[in-house]
Amino acid sequence: MPWSRRDLLKAGLGVGASLLFPPAPALADTLIRRTIPSTGESLPVIGIGTARRYEQVTTEAERSPLREVLRQFKETGGRVIDTAPSYGTAETVVGDLVAELKIRESLFIATKLGVRGRDAGIEQLEQSFKRLRTPKIDLIAVHNLQDTQTQLSTLRQWKQAGRIRYVGITTSFERQYQEFEQTMRAEALDFIQVDYALDNRKAGQRILPLAADRGIGVMINLPFGRGRLFAAVQGKSLPPWASEFDCGSWAQFFLKYIISHPAVTCALPGTAKPEYLVDNLGAARGRLPNAEMRARMERLIDSV
Ligand SMILES: NC(=O)c1ccc[n+]([C@@H]2O[C@H](COP(=O)([O-])OP(=O)(O)OC[C@H]3O[C@@H](n4cnc5c(N)ncnc54)[C@H](OP(=O)(O)O)[C@@H]3O)[C@@H](O)[C@H]2O)c1
Repeated sequence: MPWSRRDLLKAGLGVGASLLFPPAPALADTLIRRTIPSTGESLPVIGIGTARRYEQVTTEAERSPLREVLRQFKETGGRVIDTAPSYGTAETVVGDLVAELKIRESLFIATKLGVRGRDAGIEQLEQSFKRLRTPKIDLIAVHNLQDTQTQLSTLRQWKQAGRIRYVGITTSFERQYQEFEQTMRAEALDFIQVDYALDNRKAGQRILPLAADRGIGVMINLPFGRGRLFAAVQGKSLPPWASEFDCGSWAQFFLKYIISHPAVTCALPGTAKPEYLVDNLGAARGRLPNAEMRARMERLIDSV
């Protein structure tokens, strides 16, 4: 069944409902955007994740492709970069490159808070601000529900003081879903971040609808299941019907599945190569699969 207008409005899509249909030719090259329910600000539906490939960067040879990724990302209209203090060198690399490229103003930087205890939380926050070299961080989310109440209370104080724009929570573990849902019901959150992929659809059953109901923005981590989806389709051609939603690669197939869910604000594919950036941002253009097509995509992946 296609998404109803009510579903879309509830998910904060508003006029973005038209995104499920072909864009007007004049807009064909702009990235699809979604609205953050708590403020109405809009973001492009594809961002960049910095786990793993940004974690152990020490040489210029390792930094160079990442600089090019961030440069092209900004140039193409990309905004959301997701990182975390626990990702080794990632926050430092992002902070240094963003400062060097002078692109802070155009980006939406999201990081996390992942320690227990109020003082340790404050120490980690100060460290993130230093590493990211910015006076204001767009979103900080409690990482994997570590000491959620304590850390959310600090994050809210910092939000009130103007140092943070949005607060949220993250998980990528199904065993945390119950507590995650309870937190979504009990707390006022701007964003959640959760794992969701064509072959990992559990968050779509309760968490994404709950986010739409509660007016919470949704970022998606592990959109390729850490590359697992590419392994599943290795050696296989895209089905011809992928062209019906302007999909030219497997990466776009996997990402368009995610961003066509009406509750999703933004997907965060781990992106460390310029050619992957171009490919992944391509998912934020053109038509998106409707509900019927999404079911077909699920059947395809379930059969491989
Ligand atoms: N609990 C949490 O808060 C949490 C947990 C996990 C992840 N995250 C966030 O979610 C982000 C995404 O997760 P992830 O990076 O671990 O996994 P992912 O995005 O599911 O997959 C990344 C893998 O996909 C490959 N890839 C990316 N674009 C591609 C393309 N166009 N074509 C072919 N292969 C492509 C990468 O290849 P290469 O290896 O060759 O670069 C990498 O191996 C993280 O970076 C992080 O920001 C948050």
